[in-house]
Order: sequence, then structure tokens, then C-alpha cells
Amino acid sequence: MMGRVAGKAALITGAAGGLGQAMAWMLAREGAKVALTDVNLDGVTELAGAINAEIAGSAFAYAHDVTREDQWAEVVARAAADMGSLSILVNNAGVGGPLAFVETDTVENWQRQFEINLRSAMLGCKYAMPHLRDAAPASIINISSIAGLASAPGMGAYSATKAGVWMYTKTLALEAAKADWNVRCNSVHPVFIKTPILDPFVAMAAGDEAKAHERLSRGIPLKRIGEPDDVAYCVLYLASDESKFVTGSEFRIDGGMTAQ
Ligand SMILES: NC(=O)c1ccc[n+]([C@@H]2O[C@H](COP(=O)([O-])OP(=O)(O)OC[C@H]3O[C@@H](n4cnc5c(N)ncnc54)[C@H](O)[C@@H]3O)[C@@H](O)[C@H]2O)c1
Repeated sequence: MMGRVAGKAALITGAAGGLGQAMAWMLAREGAKVALTDVNLDGVTELAGAINAEIAGSAFAYAHDVTREDQWAEVVARAAADMGSLSILVNNAGVGGPLAFVETDTVENWQRQFEINLRSAMLGCKYAMPHLRDAAPASIINISSIAGLASAPGMGAYSATKAGVWMYTKTLALEAAKADWNVRCNSVHPVFIKTPILDPFVAMAAGDEAKAHERLSRGIPLKRIGEPDDVAYCVLYLASDESKFVTGSEFRIDGGMTAQ
């Protein structure tokens, strides 16, 4: 099959939902095999079925909690075996949390976001790296957030974990470059994108989605929030060999928000 990532094999975490789902379709339609992992096995199984109905034999689904080291070892090995190789890792699974201010924030809130958003990226890179090296040129794409570069009151845990993903990405890019592995590593930083992660904002607008999206778009120069494909196109570029000279970089998908 022709395409910008033809012959490549990608593992995407948190693929049952919003951004992961858009990336899965984008990479598969551009010729990659895709291993879709999530705690929501039904979701990734359904998605893999839909992708395979369009592009037979291109998608695989796995139950996977990214906080579990034992599952990382197993899922990476199975995905590499099923796809024949592993040349792209997208650490996408992530969660937001409640707005939590310094005196009422909790260790449990920090622990949960730390484990799902940040520690998972380390585990993914650690267990995927031997396969990525074998399949080089290879690419790691860590999904951070604009909140990892700028913050707001009540965002302590989320911003700290996403800033951690940003800087860990640079460390890994330099380690891989120094070792001549031809494995690149970059981070992607979306602002608000229309996915279920925004449900709490819709609830705050009494279920009025359009009103919630309008409120969220107010600080964005392009005057709208993003679509999942706005992020997936960036992931496609970073996954492909078109970005072969790009490593240790951060990509802001933010409608101009942090240009201000
Ligand atoms: N949508 C946005 O506005 C936005 C903005 C900035 C960054 N992000 C980041 O993008 C990534 C994807 O977010 P999204 O908007 O698609 O959210 P989403 O809630 O639609 O999808 C997240 C997926 O992660 C899965 N998941 C949650 N915990 C998991 C775990 N422990 N193990 C494996 N899978 C788990 C969920 O089941 C879900 O399918 C996240 O890292 C998020 O922080 C999103």
C-alpha cells in the first residue's frame, strides 16, 4: 500500500477515544499497521474492526493499562509480533483531573495523573525502544499539552505531568541521537480539541456543547477549538520519514494561543 507511512508499524495508547482514534485512522489510511491499546478493550476492538473493514489486516487491538509495567512488556511484544515490527510509538493515553487548588489538592489526584500521563511515557519508551531500534528509522511521539508549556490556576497536577512529558521527550531524543539509534522523539502540545476529555467543560455549561466550545475558544487567536485531525496531521508528519531531521522538538497545535 502507498502512503506517507507505508511499511511502518505504530502502537498508539489510549486509542479507543478522541485523539487516539483520529491518529489510528490517519496512520492506517497512510499505509501503516496500527496496534491500538486502551483500558477500554471494547472501544479499541470496535475501532480495529472498522479500520480492518476498510484496510484489511492493518489494525490490532489490545487491552492495556499504561500504568502497568507488566502489561507494557507484554503488549509491546505482542504488537511487534502481530505487526511484524514496531517503528512508531505514540504515548497518547492521558487524563485530566478536577480543578484543584493548592490547599485542597490531594496526593491521590497527583498520583493518578502522574501515573497515567507521565510515568506511562517512560514505560512505553523503555519497553518499545529495543523494537524501535531494530526497525529504525523510528519515531516516538509523546502527547503532552499546551498545559505543559503554560498553566492556569487549578491545573497543578496536569500541567506538571505534561511539562514532565515535554522535558522527558528531549532527554530521550538526545540519548537516542548520541547512541546513533535513528529513533527520533518529539512532543505534541494541543490546546482544547473536541474529544470526550472536554466533557467536564460541557457539564459546566449545563450540557450545552456549543456554548462550552465557544467559551473555550475565547483565548484562541483562530477563534475556535481544535478538531482531532488537527493533531493527527502533526502526528502523521512526525511518524513519517518526512520529519527525519526533527528530534527533541515540541509542536504546538493551539490556534496561536501561546503566540500571545
Ligand atoms: N482533547 C484535548 O483538548 C487535549 C488537549 C491537550 C492534550 N490532550 C492530551 O491528548 C491525549 C488524548 O486525549 P483525548 O482528548 O483523546 O482524551 P479522551 O478522554 O478522549 O481519550 C483518552 C483515552 O485514554 C484512555 N485511558 C485513560 N486511562 C488509561 C490508562 N490508564 N491506560 C490506557 N488507556 C487509558 C481512555 O480510555 C481514552 O480512550 C491525552 O494525553 C490528553 O492529555 C488532549
